[in-house]
Amino acid sequence: MTPLTSAAAWMALQSHVPTLKALHLRELFAADPRRGERLTLEAAGIYLDYSKHRITDETLRLLLALAAESGLRERIDAMFSGQRINSTENRAVLHVALRAPRGADIRVDGVNVVPGVHEVLDRMADFAQRVRSGAWLGHSGKRIRNIVNIGIGGSDLGPVMAYEALRHCSARDMRFRFVSNVDGTDFAEAVHDLVAAETLFIVSSKTFTTLETMTNAHSARDWALAALGGDAAAVARHFVAVSTNAQAVSAFGISTDNMFGFWDWVGGRYSMDSAIGLSTMLAIGADNFTALLGGFHEMDEHFRQAPFERNLPVLMGLLTLLYANFFDAQTVAVLPYEQYLKRFPAYLQQLTMESNGKHVTLAGTRVDYDTSPVYWGEPGTNGQHSFYQLIHQGTRLIPCDFIAFAKPLNVLGRHHDMLLANVFAQGQALAFGKTADEVRAEGTAGTLVPHRVFEGNRPSSTLLLDELTPAALGKLVALYEHCVFTQAAVWRINAFDQWGVELGKVLAQRIVPELESPTEPALAHDSSTNALIRRYRQMKRG
Ligand code: F6P
Repeated sequence: MTPLTSAAAWMALQSHVPTLKALHLRELFAADPRRGERLTLEAAGIYLDYSKHRITDETLRLLLALAAESGLRERIDAMFSGQRINSTENRAVLHVALRAPRGADIRVDGVNVVPGVHEVLDRMADFAQRVRSGAWLGHSGKRIRNIVNIGIGGSDLGPVMAYEALRHCSARDMRFRFVSNVDGTDFAEAVHDLVAAETLFIVSSKTFTTLETMTNAHSARDWALAALGGDAAAVARHFVAVSTNAQAVSAFGISTDNMFGFWDWVGGRYSMDSAIGLSTMLAIGADNFTALLGGFHEMDEHFRQAPFERNLPVLMGLLTLLYANFFDAQTVAVLPYEQYLKRFPAYLQQLTMESNGKHVTLAGTRVDYDTSPVYWGEPGTNGQHSFYQLIHQGTRLIPCDFIAFAKPLNVLGRHHDMLLANVFAQGQALAFGKTADEVRAEGTAGTLVPHRVFEGNRPSSTLLLDELTPAALGKLVALYEHCVFTQAAVWRINAFDQWGVELGKVLAQRIVPELESPTEPALAHDSSTNALIRRYRQMKRG
């Protein structure tokens, strides 16, 4: 197979990029008065303005050729048809089956997985209804008022993000907390004002072996039992599990009747719409959860069917790749102008970087090009008064994704127009900047001119949606999932394993007994780690 960097489309892009780098967005807009309407795409209720990217029609043509040459179409078909595309774990990758309608037929090894998905969804809906209505009572007969999800990574970030995003349609008479960190503070603060008799813990872990989650789950059980008189039978009314590991769930003491399952073909970071979304369903109700899944599915179908030049995730994935591989951009800023999406950038960090932070191809050879950029961000307008300075006038190129909604969820005077004016203004300022002549024309004195110049030519996408409904959230998440997929197909990497998290986990397990040993342990690490362990042991003795 020809190496990616020698592939025809890649090489064509390489020769094309110097011309592109010499062009300013000011020129591109001046040359085509309709650019701002032409380079837009509307699909699945999302309007994407990609006109403020440093591209010409030729760039787009070459990027699309790269996608085609990379076999993206075949990769999409392979995923949707249940092939084991997660080759290093020998697993199918079927998060798209989690949101397939009841009658769909998606097979893994000849077996349709969709009926099983809906069976779990139905059990979740029944359970959520019983808890929300007060039919499910705690051990001492009290109604459940507090839900605490215990999980980490994909078993936490999706649930927290979705709860925050959809808080406006959540049960306001219930409290939702999320515990992830093994730092005891996380658990302590999450429960400090809760009454155990009214609290339900959801232990969410695909494997049910993750150190942080199991440590927190044991502390939660101790906390609940201590408050509930020590009767182990209380666990059945105050703990449910979401996992693929029934044996470990039983061993923890949770009956498998109170377990909601999923499957090895659901990656942790692709699982917020599986039973891992139980806390989401408890918060927003089964109907809203169904709407969320509907949004995911609409984007899945768009991704599967739309031609690449009219395909939102494909275009966005390729544009990101253009900057990462040909402009040496190291990061992407995701900037939602919607306060409810405050955890969306954090959610995307796992989705994008655990997926595409890889250094070898599917065939195991070291890549000689960059893979995933660093994703980061904060809601606007807050970021404007913090790190936007660097995006506008710093020395690094940082492509931005602006996300905005036409309708506010909390109507408050002129707030929403101000919010939207800001998001439009930021894209404009980044693209067009302000020249030295313009600065001088405003009456700025000579020495100050360079400080007040905005070079512009800084690329951004603007995503405009109607309103942050459950369906809209599903569409947005699926959009980024498939962006990641598109990039991985071009980079020839496996977006669905995460071996990079293993080494640290193993080393930590080795160090724990050395920290806890009552006698001075014989240490055989490097001199730095040995010294840190000794210093910590000394410091904790006081
Ligand atoms: O540490 C990485 C990871 O395996 C993630 O991929 C996963 O989302 C997270 O840990 C939690 O895993 P689990 O759901 O099995 O507890």
